[in-house]
Amino acid sequence: MKRYGHFHDATASYMITDPQTPRPWINYLGNQRLHAFVSQNAGGLLWHREPYSRRITRYHYTAAPGDRPGFYLYVRDRITGQVWNPHFAPRCTALDGFECRHRPGVTEFIAAKDGVEVRFTLGIPPQDDALLWDVAVRNTGGAPAELQLVSYMEFGLLEFMREALGWCYLKNQFGLHYDPELGAIRYDYHVFEAPYTPAMLIGCSEALSGWECSRDAFIGRTGSYESPCALRAGAELSNSDLPLGGHACAAQGVEVRLAPGEEKRLGFTFVLSDDLPGAESVVRKYRSVEAVAAGIASIDAFWAGRLGASTVSTGDPVVDRMVNTWIPYNCMVALDLARTISTDHMGTDGLRYRDTMQDAMAVANIDPEFALLRVRQVFAQQTPDGGGCFSFFPDDMRPTTDTPRRCDNTVWPVYTVHNLIAETGDMGLLDEEIPYRDGSPGSVYEHVLKGLKYIHERRGPNGLPTLFDVDWNDSLALFQDGAAESVMLGMQLVYACGLFKELAQRRDHAADCAWCDAAIAELTGILNSDKVWDGRWYRRLLLSNGKTLGSAANAQGSIYLNPQSWAVISGVGDFEGRGRIAMDSAAEFLDSECGLRILAPPFKGIPEPEDPPLGSNPGIGENGGIFCHANTWAIIAECLLGNGNRAWKYFRQILPEVVSEKFGADHYEREPYVFVSSIIGPVSDRFGEGGISWLTGTANWMHVAMMHYILGVRPTLDGLAVTPCLPDSIPEATVMRAYRGETRRIHVGHGDGAHA
Ligand code: GLC
Repeated sequence: MKRYGHFHDATASYMITDPQTPRPWINYLGNQRLHAFVSQNAGGLLWHREPYSRRITRYHYTAAPGDRPGFYLYVRDRITGQVWNPHFAPRCTALDGFECRHRPGVTEFIAAKDGVEVRFTLGIPPQDDALLWDVAVRNTGGAPAELQLVSYMEFGLLEFMREALGWCYLKNQFGLHYDPELGAIRYDYHVFEAPYTPAMLIGCSEALSGWECSRDAFIGRTGSYESPCALRAGAELSNSDLPLGGHACAAQGVEVRLAPGEEKRLGFTFVLSDDLPGAESVVRKYRSVEAVAAGIASIDAFWAGRLGASTVSTGDPVVDRMVNTWIPYNCMVALDLARTISTDHMGTDGLRYRDTMQDAMAVANIDPEFALLRVRQVFAQQTPDGGGCFSFFPDDMRPTTDTPRRCDNTVWPVYTVHNLIAETGDMGLLDEEIPYRDGSPGSVYEHVLKGLKYIHERRGPNGLPTLFDVDWNDSLALFQDGAAESVMLGMQLVYACGLFKELAQRRDHAADCAWCDAAIAELTGILNSDKVWDGRWYRRLLLSNGKTLGSAANAQGSIYLNPQSWAVISGVGDFEGRGRIAMDSAAEFLDSECGLRILAPPFKGIPEPEDPPLGSNPGIGENGGIFCHANTWAIIAECLLGNGNRAWKYFRQILPEVVSEKFGADHYEREPYVFVSSIIGPVSDRFGEGGISWLTGTANWMHVAMMHYILGVRPTLDGLAVTPCLPDSIPEATVMRAYRGETRRIHVGHGDGAHA
């Protein structure tokens, strides 16, 4: 079977050794202000704070799997005229050696061609808003080498949607030119009514032999990224400036002569700042190749700190490398970027209320400060009646839209707040004041409680929360039944009230405790009534026309995964009775041996005249696909039921490395080191194809499922609880974990065999 790379655990890397992966296999670079993603072909995109209105470079989305343009380094052999890229594409010259090493926050290309070896490292250091290009070029041949190295980036017009609609005007409202005194290219952006006009500079450690600011000059009339006219035989960089606008790029050329065995280090830098003096000082700093190398080293130090917060050893290398490196890394990227920008997402969505709250829950363990920052931002979007919003831009905190309305938005915060307090021990968080969206005051305690009451007050005639537009399952919008009642949200509310009660008890708020008790008791009764219990599983929706969804009586969508898992998590389903029966049904009807389907059977058409149109094709996404995020709750439920073998199986079978191996990288297509949102399910001929990688709630819940439930080291308000649920195949495991200022080493086994 064809593989395109392998893990290298000692350096926490994934090494891509064949550049022609089925899709771009990317990594993220960034310091939570300046961000980029970059593929194994150095295709990628750069943005500042948020990609909607501060998108710096361009990326051709719908041209995938080709990914153009990005952060390109061209190597021109002055003697033979041969031009190649150490990242293979876009030039696609056959190389003598190629490796792309993705590790947290850093991507490195190591390539060789005709006696020249190039090592090209990209990263954004925590301390500066600078994209650093650390380049080492070595002559490994027997004759002197004469080379020209040319860096290339292509600029857009910051405001993504405005550019798409009005680039023909806006392209005349900026300028680029080489500033000889500064020795850097300046990108002056002065678009009419632009919300933000940063200073941007592109620098180099060396004196340039030539440059281009005009893309028309670099690419040329008959050229392309593959074959820029400026690098063709007989052509040279023409030192084009673009002071009055046009189509912008920054290409910087440097001549390098190397004796046999000699190596040269050089650096290129993109810098952004609010003002020119700020940008100038950073571009000057990184004129030193030592400073560039130190900048890259500081990125590694940043990630070592975050990923070191908890490490595990289970004896299963496939699990350990995910749990120690790639899951926490994926969690941090997801919290940083929500579902906004990747090779799948175009960068227009902002941070979603509920997704961000879930992402922050897992990051409580990895980077509590960052988790808190996001929690504060989400609460600041809440309306004083307790309602949430769909999503918002974190940069200026403006909501993207008030619709569609997710009825579950405000059920999630208590999970996150509870977990943060359990992690840090800081009950004071409950008293922190965070104004609502209209500026009116509210403590964290009030935000959470009002959010739960908001859902509770909007229940339907059967006593379960109404759907508004949708609950967690976006595709339920197809039913266009806002008055339908959600079984899943009812169960989530029960779980949320249980957690909230623990917080209310610490505050001696007896009335709030009583409210939680009453809500739990009433909802649990309704959820176990014949309206919801179907005989072998829990139904999904009570529709306003009196019908149900997720019942054996339904020919399509007769069983849904989420109500079974949440029945157990919430305690609505008795662990020895219905909870267990429901999860057994999920195993019987939904498991595909590479993940549980979100529902079965998929909708194949319109069963009844009043039923909705189809949405995704059968087996895809929420129409019977293996929705990874939903699998995580099944893992947790199986742990709560004490089924360590099943929990482990469910955990392991959706790991990207495992799925990629099972179906083959060419079929699965996506990165073997980060989660996809969903895998196409068995009824489809495309069974096993992965879709939408990186930005999914799967990462954070997988972190929680493994750490809190399978390994069972779970922070509570009273301290760490240790209740492991290991499979028979793993006799014991070790967890090293930072907790409230100490490092704990916890050994877990079977039975009561846990000790710190
Ligand atoms: C996507 C969305 C998430 C939603 C899920 C299921 O992951 O980001 O908000 O709950 O799909 O529809």
